[in-house]
Amino acid sequence: MVSLTGKSALVTGASSGIGAVVAEALAEAGARVGLVARRGELLEKTLARCREHAPGSAMWVADLADLDAVAGLAAAVEAEFGGVDVLVNNAAMPKRRRVQDMAPAENDDVLQLNYLSPVRLTLALLPGMIERGRGHLVAIGSVAARLGPPHEAAYGASKAALTAFWESMAVDLDGTGVQAHIVQPALVDTDLFSLPGNEPPLSDLSDALPPREVADAVLELIGNGRFERYVPDWFAEMASGKAADVEGFIAGVKEWTHDRIQALGAEPA
Ligand SMILES: NC(=O)c1ccc[n+]([C@@H]2O[C@H](COP(=O)([O-])OP(=O)(O)OC[C@H]3O[C@@H](n4cnc5c(N)ncnc54)[C@H](OP(=O)(O)O)[C@@H]3O)[C@@H](O)[C@H]2O)c1
Repeated sequence: MVSLTGKSALVTGASSGIGAVVAEALAEAGARVGLVARRGELLEKTLARCREHAPGSAMWVADLADLDAVAGLAAAVEAEFGGVDVLVNNAAMPKRRRVQDMAPAENDDVLQLNYLSPVRLTLALLPGMIERGRGHLVAIGSVAARLGPPHEAAYGASKAALTAFWESMAVDLDGTGVQAHIVQPALVDTDLFSLPGNEPPLSDLSDALPPREVADAVLELIGNGRFERYVPDWFAEMASGKAADVEGFIAGVKEWTHDRIQALGAEPA
């Protein structure tokens, strides 16, 4: 396993789900971890677990949808840690809603939190990383970035935008010592599927993977320097199959969506 002894990491959305487990895994690997989310009482619990491995870990309660506050947050973390070596942009919101039922502001909110905010945080921490000649910029994307999920247009678009930004960034940063990585998870067992303001999920949640698989993928990419990792990794084949036959892919997803709605016994609310 990769050693992060003496390194500092920052994980957004560390109060629950994937972010909480990624934060703990980074602490286990030796990093002092900074935690960010809105729910302070849950962050305290993640912090206590991180401090068992990395006593210098710290937390910041912040609403990352407030774009004007992101640069100040980055400055506060850099001041506390003297620089950030690993940034994991994990915080995001779902939006399970058919396009014909979607209000424009819902799309805006998703893009703001899932795309604009992590880009702002990344751009705020990048100069310090470049100056030190090292760093890992990790994004938690989604297979939705590559596979156009039904009833998730805004969410899929936010992850596709993040992925496109990360691809270009990986090239732009060549030679700086700073690397970009993105993990594209499929179904993971978290609260994402029970948050209010969403249709019930179409997917069968009994297939969901434990968040630790995403944390292992983050550590794997930091260790091997590669750009992208699907979780589970066989989704890479599905993405390349789609790229080779988009018409066939869309026809197949229409059929799958129809079948799932029938199986769930209701039209989406
Ligand atoms: N679960 C899956 O199947 C799956 C699949 C693919 C990708 N992902 C991605 O994995 C990441 C983590 O999601 P999850 O599944 O672990 O869901 P989750 O348990 O709902 O975690 C979301 C995290 O984001 C934080 N967050 C949400 N809005 C925020 C805001 N305005 N400001 C600051 N923090 C905010 C939440 O904390 P607070 O509410 O305390 O602010 C929470 O810690 C997301 O990027 C998601 O898109 C998940």
